[in-house]
Amino acid sequence: MKNPWTEIPAEDYEGHMKLPEVHQLEPLREIFKKALEKYGPRRIAILGCATGNGIEAVEFSKLEKLYALDINPGYLEILRKRHAANLSKIETMECDLNTDGPDLSGIHLIFAALIFEYVDVKIVTEKIARWLAPGGILVAVLQLPCEKIPEISPSPYKSIGKLATLMKLVAPEEMEGLAAENGLGFQGKRTRKLDSGKEFLELSFRKPA
Ligand SMILES: C[S@@+](CC[C@H](N)C(=O)[O-])C[C@H]1O[C@@H](n2cnc3c(N)ncnc32)[C@H](O)[C@@H]1O
Repeated sequence: MKNPWTEIPAEDYEGHMKLPEVHQLEPLREIFKKALEKYGPRRIAILGCATGNGIEAVEFSKLEKLYALDINPGYLEILRKRHAANLSKIETMECDLNTDGPDLSGIHLIFAALIFEYVDVKIVTEKIARWLAPGGILVAVLQLPCEKIPEISPSPYKSIGKLATLMKLVAPEEMEGLAAENGLGFQGKRTRKLDSGKEFLELSFRKPA
């Protein structure tokens, strides 16, 4: 069976994320930008990078490599077009994080925003722990449950509905437990309320130096 994400055109994905009642791209961009400012990473991996939201904040002159991983090749093609000027430092990797094992290592910052909801959290956390450099940081963003709003906001973009069978919210305790099991030390967390009323939880972990 095809992963539903491969059947959602980029226009539908971005259109949905930009709806005033969803409006998630900007807060995610901000979280990524803050992580760049705080940690100054030279090797970055973005898991579930989609069309590259946030990459415009990267200072490529200070960067060694940015790995952008996603299951949808169409999203990665758009990312490459939008960031054509910096392609010598960007490597896009089409992969299914559940099953494929890109051979990454020595990553200073892994940004994993709204991806754990769609993958096997245990498998992906194990990979992250392997890929991080000693002292490297994982910033994860989870969507928190909200009584009044469905997990996937109603959308005029019908293809978004395909995610209903795949998406499952991840309990922060599960994420924290798996990170600890894989030797990642808890650094901090922050809840961010969106205009829609939904909430994101930003969690950060560090691999021991
Ligand atoms: C909600 S979007 C992520 C938003 C993005 N991180 C941001 O900050 O704007 C989820 C992304 O994860 C990708 N994805 C979902 N399942 C995946 C998998 N098994 N392996 C790799 N990428 C996956 C989707 O194609 C999609 O681009």
